[in-house]
Amino acid sequence: MIVLGFESSCDETGVALVRHEPGARPRLLADALHSQAAMHEAYGGVVPELASRDHIRRVLPLARQVLHSAGVGLEAVDLVAYTRGPGLAGALLVGAGVAVALGAALGRPTLGVHHLEGHLLSPFLADEPPAFPFVALLVSGGHTQLMRVEGVGRYTLLGETVDDAAGEAFDKSAKLLGLGYPGGPALARLAEQGDERAIALPRPLLHSGDLDFSFAGLKTAVATQLRKLGPEPTPAARADLAAGTQAAIVDVLVAKSLRALRASGLSRLVVAGGVGANRRLRAALAKGAAKLRAEVHFPPLALCTDNGAMIALAAAMRACEGLDSGTHAGAFDVRPRWPLEDLAAVP
Ligand code: KG4
Ligand code: ZN
Repeated sequence: MIVLGFESSCDETGVALVRHEPGARPRLLADALHSQAAMHEAYGGVVPELASRDHIRRVLPLARQVLHSAGVGLEAVDLVAYTRGPGLAGALLVGAGVAVALGAALGRPTLGVHHLEGHLLSPFLADEPPAFPFVALLVSGGHTQLMRVEGVGRYTLLGETVDDAAGEAFDKSAKLLGLGYPGGPALARLAEQGDERAIALPRPLLHSGDLDFSFAGLKTAVATQLRKLGPEPTPAARADLAAGTQAAIVDVLVAKSLRALRASGLSRLVVAGGVGANRRLRAALAKGAAKLRAEVHFPPLALCTDNGAMIALAAAMRACEGLDSGTHAGAFDVRPRWPLEDLAAVP
């Protein structure tokens, strides 16, 4: 089956074509992405109305580009998928509207995908895809969750952040350090030049004994340290603070992921979401998991942050299992707030 997928939940317009047959490995035929990061940078964060308008401008040219580069005609598309939620309502409606209209025009079914399920399943597009069951660490700009994954659509929440997400901690700390938006990659780059032991920062909930996270206090600690450095901190001090911040976030994510592996008795960890692109996190997780003789799977680097491929893939994997996401023929709706565990309850 060939699936055309649309992602428009936040500030990236993504379109992709995935081919998937039951029992075979899914293949990415083509994908195209437009990031709005530069447009939102001036505002220090995503402006929802601007995001929606830009998705409208980009979505059809990107779809044409994807079909052209895969050499696939619209008539070959078996299923049209879109991100149904969670995300910005207006932005979601763009992808949903285009996908459902296209499905109706082609006489093909449409499937609304949970954005986090897309992230969660994205490692199945890697060269060495995982096998079920596994523990998943979902670390994006809006979510930080540990899940037990038994199969497609079978997800149990093990722990999550009680306040900010890990990506938010990166972004807010980066903002304090005067780095651009999105701050995660910028902070990670600056951290490479710093000494992560030079400035001590807290590791919230590290020893809480559960699988929850809390990152809101970290930005306060970063602000306090920044004040101590005076009005004009040296480049070296800023790099040390960036490295210390990254290390604090990574230490907690690694400790809790390993705890989840031990507690669940599983020996596979899948990391997904934008923060999964962080090299320091990747290296520390690989090292920690090796000690437990567990495997770690990451999505291909380009598929860590938001993209259309993961949406087409999740739809394809759901369709192969005979699952939908509660969407109904001809109708479209979006769910800006949509807990991943709710998917299990969908018929
Ligand atoms: O999954 P994603 O693209 O969007 C959401 O669904 O939220 O994640 C975006 C988040 C942002 O907070 C961004 O700063 C962070 O992922 N991020 C990173 C890196 N690349 C993206 N954080 C740390 N290091 C990176 N290399
Ligand atoms: Zn995302």
